[in-house]
Amino acid sequence: MPEKIAVLPCDGAGKEVVPEAIKVLRAAGADFAFEEFDVNADAYLRTGHAITPEVWNDLQKADAILFGAVGDPRVNDAAYLAGVLLRLRFELDLYVNLRPAKLYDDRLSPIRREDRRQVDLLIVRENTEGIYVGLGGRFKKGTKDEVALQEDVNTHGGVTRIIEHAFAVAKREVVMVDKSNAMTHAGGLWQDRWKAVAAQHSNVKTRHLYVDAAAMQLVKDPTQFDVIVTGNLFGDILSDLTAELVGGMGVAPSANLNPATGRGLFEPVHGTAPDIAGQGIVNPTGAILSASMMVKHLGFPDMADAIEGAVESAIGARECTRDIGGNLSTSQAGDAVVKRLSD
Ligand code: NAI
Ligand code: MG
Repeated sequence: MPEKIAVLPCDGAGKEVVPEAIKVLRAAGADFAFEEFDVNADAYLRTGHAITPEVWNDLQKADAILFGAVGDPRVNDAAYLAGVLLRLRFELDLYVNLRPAKLYDDRLSPIRREDRRQVDLLIVRENTEGIYVGLGGRFKKGTKDEVALQEDVNTHGGVTRIIEHAFAVAKREVVMVDKSNAMTHAGGLWQDRWKAVAAQHSNVKTRHLYVDAAAMQLVKDPTQFDVIVTGNLFGDILSDLTAELVGGMGVAPSANLNPATGRGLFEPVHGTAPDIAGQGIVNPTGAILSASMMVKHLGFPDMADAIEGAVESAIGARECTRDIGGNLSTSQAGDAVVKRLSD
């Protein structure tokens, strides 16, 4: 039986980059059954469901989900984003969010220097807890006395399993990032679990940084990092920073995983890019590299390496979109990767 891949391009740039990722997967020899689902702002406006119950049932049966991006100017409603992406992450318990940043060509980094800077790091972001769970409320809303509370949820189990995953994927070092000097309760739990898990992995180097210092060090010398493990909010912010270090939002991939159940959702880090969507110029690289992460997760590491190598070669030859120094359209940039896989 071929792997069943549920395809959710969703909105805007997502609709343009996901077909390129599928084109590349096919060229790389992936014998998967792709099924596309009608999850997008049009369907939400039509049905009132971010994901209809029927589609939700089908998504449960997929071996993996290939995702684009959600968001639409007609839907200003946080319930839509929460009902698609956050629901998938939370209900499928995709607690690991992997966000690699690797510099494929010197010219793409804004901090390039004459000595080649080999950025190749991975952010392991906790993906199901923290300040994104939506607990809280607005008291006396709309008045001068308004009080807004947004709770930061951190559990013993949730913190432990994400730190353990960071050690499972680290090659040389794990850096734990928090703000435990100011956020003492949540930070205290992170510190306790960090020390306990680190003690079981004496073969891997460890370091702790406060998030402000981590942001500074990432810009100063990103080559020092291997794996960074952190909570949901800090992981979200730092991964935009690391994306920019290696070429910008157009190249950044991600995987949302549950290593225990094997469930996974793979998506570019970027959103729907409303400023450039629909013109055939969005960069498909983030989506293609996310597809590479998907096939690695499904047990095809050689295919993943081949796709990544083809992407690196196309970027090196400037056969890419304008945001990273080429002049190709979205689909021509996909073709440039396909060509290298077919050679
Ligand atoms: P964005 O990631 O869509 O765009 C930020 C900047 O990066 C823009 O200048 C855009 O042109 C550029 N960019 C993004 N993707 C690109 C690509 N593939 N190639 C070249 N340039 C690219 O983030 P923004 O503008 O904050 O959000 C736009 C919409 O997307 C909002 O509705 C937001 O809620 C949604 N969003 C959805 C996400 C998701 O589905 N995972 C993640 C982030 C935002
Ligand atoms: Mg983000």
